[in-house]
Amino acid sequence: MEPRTFPLVLELCDDCGNLQLRDCLDAADLYRHYLYVTPDSPMLRQHYESLHAYLANGHYIRPDSFVLEVGSNAGLFLQFLQPRTAKVLGIDPATNICEMARASGIDTVCDFFAMDSARAIREQHGAPDLIVARHCMAHNADPHVMVSAAAELLTDDGHLVIENAYGLTTVENNEFDQIYHEHMFYFTIRSMKALLARNGMHLTGIFMAPVHGGSIVFVAKKARPGDVVDVSVEQFSRREDDLLRPGTFERFSENAYAIKERLATLVEDLVAEQKSVWTYGATAKGNTLLNYVGLTHQQIGYCVDSTPIKQGKFLPKSGIRVVSEEEATASPPDFYLLTAWNYKQEVIEKVRRSGNNHTRFIIPVPHVHIV
Ligand code: TYD
Repeated sequence: MEPRTFPLVLELCDDCGNLQLRDCLDAADLYRHYLYVTPDSPMLRQHYESLHAYLANGHYIRPDSFVLEVGSNAGLFLQFLQPRTAKVLGIDPATNICEMARASGIDTVCDFFAMDSARAIREQHGAPDLIVARHCMAHNADPHVMVSAAAELLTDDGHLVIENAYGLTTVENNEFDQIYHEHMFYFTIRSMKALLARNGMHLTGIFMAPVHGGSIVFVAKKARPGDVVDVSVEQFSRREDDLLRPGTFERFSENAYAIKERLATLVEDLVAEQKSVWTYGATAKGNTLLNYVGLTHQQIGYCVDSTPIKQGKFLPKSGIRVVSEEEATASPPDFYLLTAWNYKQEVIEKVRRSGNNHTRFIIPVPHVHIV
């Protein structure tokens, strides 16, 4: 059966500098049964430490805080916060993933975060002092639903923390593969300010983090006279204004095309030399990359991924079968195209630790190179 395909077009708003998809898919189709489970990665654990330190220094989180995480997935971040704060609660729409979170001891509401679920949470649990939405605000066709629900639910002095891939890092680093249907928005500081303002909130701090190819952490609260706004907001906004120009996006589009050409030729040459090429990471971004470049199971042997529920399945359109890291260790290929390039260091170290000193890695961004 031919797989269904959908247009993938990124648009830039001249007014607020937002980048967003022209065509959004139905949220229930995307999220009710979900295959993404946050990996237990040393890099992510390090990020949780730094994020917590930042939030504690700013007094956004305290030992007596009630923290709600939106899009809490299997509960890894809340497990980290649980011993550091009074109360944690998750909310996530994926039934299969909520069960995993609950089994690990994280109380989780299984629903989309919106006005109704926010009110139900307040009735049952009270108002949170901190709402954290990590890598999910952009996964939503109408981000006003989440922001207005957060404004309704938070205590008056509570904070909303939104973490996302930063739209301008995506563009500056040629990370065009970050563009896929689950990422409907690619927020800039300017567009986040506009989104918050329309919901009676404003930005009080910004923190940049290296995870997922360059992420931005926005701290916001309900706007009140006398609110202190951290200097980081002004500093990062000034830098962004310099970059939000048409030339930046023209370069981005040219660079994406150059990567496509280079990668297609490289893989074609390797296959002609009888070298085996697999991909590492059954990532969403990997599907954008493979389908844009036009690579399929005809050139790529397998895709390796540590997530048990992805193994044995096939990547959409390219038809590449997902296998476990253990299967890959048993008979590794000559090359891995690293489709989980955001975990580059730890994946390479893991492969070397397994005794494999043979396989080389093709890194697709910011420019195609081999390590
Ligand atoms: P992710 O970075 O979330 O990418 P995307 O948002 O584009 O889907 O996914 C990383 C994938 O890589 C995830 O499926 C788990 C996998 N992975 C491994 O297979 N081995 C590893 O050592 C790590 C860190 C991740």
